[in-house]
Amino acid sequence: MSLAEDIREDFPILKKNLIYFDSAATTQKPQSVIDAISNFYANECGTVHRAIYRLSAQATKQYNDVRERVAHFLNAKSCNEVIFTKGTTDSINLVAQCYTQLLSPGDEIIISEMEHHSNIVPWQLLCERTGAILKVIPVNDRAELDLDAYQNLLNPRTKLVAIAHIANSTGTINPIHSIIEKAHANGAKVLIDAAQSTAHIALDVQALDIDYLALSAHKAFGPTGVGVLYGKYDLLEELPPIQGGGDMIDTVTLEKTTYAKPPIRFEAGTPPIAQVIGFGAALDYITNLGLENIYSWEHKLLTHATSELQTIPNLKIIGTAANKSSIISFIIEGVHHLDLATLLDLEGIAIRTGHHCAQPLLHRFGLTGTNRISFAPFNTCEEIDILLMHLRKALTVLL
Ligand SMILES: Cc1ncc(COP(=O)(O)O)c(C=O)c1O
Repeated sequence: MSLAEDIREDFPILKKNLIYFDSAATTQKPQSVIDAISNFYANECGTVHRAIYRLSAQATKQYNDVRERVAHFLNAKSCNEVIFTKGTTDSINLVAQCYTQLLSPGDEIIISEMEHHSNIVPWQLLCERTGAILKVIPVNDRAELDLDAYQNLLNPRTKLVAIAHIANSTGTINPIHSIIEKAHANGAKVLIDAAQSTAHIALDVQALDIDYLALSAHKAFGPTGVGVLYGKYDLLEELPPIQGGGDMIDTVTLEKTTYAKPPIRFEAGTPPIAQVIGFGAALDYITNLGLENIYSWEHKLLTHATSELQTIPNLKIIGTAANKSSIISFIIEGVHHLDLATLLDLEGIAIRTGHHCAQPLLHRFGLTGTNRISFAPFNTCEEIDILLMHLRKALTVLL
């Protein structure tokens, strides 16, 4: 039995006539995650950190347990290094907002040409606020980072390097270990955008010496509306709060407020309790499957799909990095990506189209959009063959 055969039953949505190839945008949810959320609302709904009655105490325990599980999943030193946010975008914006007080004009931040807009725009806004300068690592024709250029960009003014572990538009897996080592040798901190890694490749924040890491639950079988900012505790302690409200305080008088320690300092207001509990179930689901099993199955899918797509005349894969995750972007000469995706949707096949929130990378390749397929462990080689059959059929209409 393949991994996919073992687990397809776990995903109720797959019982519909659906071939889902857009897990890089958001993953479908297994029944265990759906159950954890509905069970919370049906039987256990209570607020956290605020009340003495049992429902609230139980909700608080469950919420805090998930923080422990996230810490374990990332191999963080402590659960106090795990802040719950709304998602990757929110986590990156949190760090960027906090850095407003830490940067001076002329300081530098390094990102790359392959970043998602979430890892570009918050830094541009930060530079506008502070007079810092944004530097960009270019990519080569295979959509790999130019590491020589990176080395040349690093200098004593570099304060932060913000890089995706895996590029959402091409699937390039970046060599974050050496990127981090080089940044640290220059005295810079590193933020890793792990939106595309969480459900696909194991990440050990201590072994990699990651300073900050951002992720989204919904890309890892969990619900929308929740994510994580991991940060080394001593770094989080230096960051000022950026949102004020309930929970994040120590004492409040009308004259002065003192703040709670991290992570609570950064979790103002009633948090997304049900979503956090759902994320806990999602982490259990990933752990039970095993990230190594997921990676090796998805690699098979990647290899099969890549070689099948290459049999289509005038099809070009955008992003042919030596180290790739299970994401494939492609264009076909003479075919508009939206037309192709629309015809495939009529056959019950969901693929992604457009710029994938990575306009600078597409611009680098002279494009405004691509078709993109991305995999989850429930996908099969048979589904890829069905895609290819319908793709060939669509081309007879479109060309
Ligand atoms: C690499 C990467 N970074 C950031 C994001 C933003 O994630 P979210 O919209 O969940 O905040 C995405 C979403 O596609 C992504 O793929």
